[in-house]
Amino acid sequence: MMPAVKAFPFTVISHGLAVVALIMVLIWTFHFNLSNSVHPVFMLFGLIIIRGEAIISYKSLPFIKEVKMVIHLALNGVALVLGIVGISAAFKDHNESGIANLYSLHSWIGIGVIVLYGIQWLYGFVSFFYPGGSADLRRATLPWHALLGACVYVLAAANSALGFLEKLTFLQSSGVAKYGTEALLVNFTAITTVVFAVFVILSVTSQPSSDQHHDDYRIHSAK
Ligand code: HEM
Ligand code: HEM
Repeated sequence: MMPAVKAFPFTVISHGLAVVALIMVLIWTFHFNLSNSVHPVFMLFGLIIIRGEAIISYKSLPFIKEVKMVIHLALNGVALVLGIVGISAAFKDHNESGIANLYSLHSWIGIGVIVLYGIQWLYGFVSFFYPGGSADLRRATLPWHALLGACVYVLAAANSALGFLEKLTFLQSSGVAKYGTEALLVNFTAITTVVFAVFVILSVTSQPSSDQHHDDYRIHSAK
């Protein structure tokens, strides 16, 4: 299923798109968005950008596998914490303004995403890092870890698009112009987010560089 192309160009494009998406969401939140909720910034930065960088770290970084594993684990941990803070901020905003919690499809999928992400992180930590499962268990579950991690990531990116749509719809029903600067900025931020996620998945599903192959071979044969 893996295309016979190297991941490197995809990882470079991913980094570039991450920077663009981050700048756009910061401009929206701190220059335009009157509600001043930090929820979109935390979710986009944590659960999409940092998590995307964590996922592609095995393909984008030039280090040996053990070092990349610690970076992958740590970035995924930071993303999880930022995601929890971002969701707590949304609940706080709702409670302070007397708005009901968990009424939307976006919020239901959002809870699913954060729960699955927490389980994925705990499983990865316990089985691949500390205390570490048996070699057989790791070999059998690693493809599932990679596949399910990528699936939950796609779900998170789709849920972000729902979040942008929902927020912009609220804003447009309270007077923000349908084709105005803010509306275009929000829609293009959502598109950049989705394209970033596509490049993360392309990076994961394409080949490591030949140096990384060498590293992998050395480490696996040393086990
Ligand atoms: C993977 C990323 C995201 C997750 C997991 C997520 C999760 C959630 C959750 C659980 C809530 C419910 C809070 C409550 O009921 O009090 C919520 C609310 C909300 N989120 Fe997100 N969110 C994400 C990204 C975004 C983004 C990028 C936006 C862009 C604007 C956004 C906009 C909103 C809005 C407007 C609400 C309030 C309305 C509602 O409850 O549906 N979200 N989000
Ligand atoms: C929610 C958190 C996590 C997500 C979403 C996630 C996702 C992924 C994905 C998508 C891959 C495939 C990367 C590729 O093939 O290029 C992967 C590989 C891997 N992950 Fe995770 N991961 C998470 C947490 C962890 C943790 C905590 C560990 C503990 C050390 C871990 C260890 C590994 C290992 C060993 C690989 C295999 C790399 C290889 O040999 O190519 N992951 N992960």
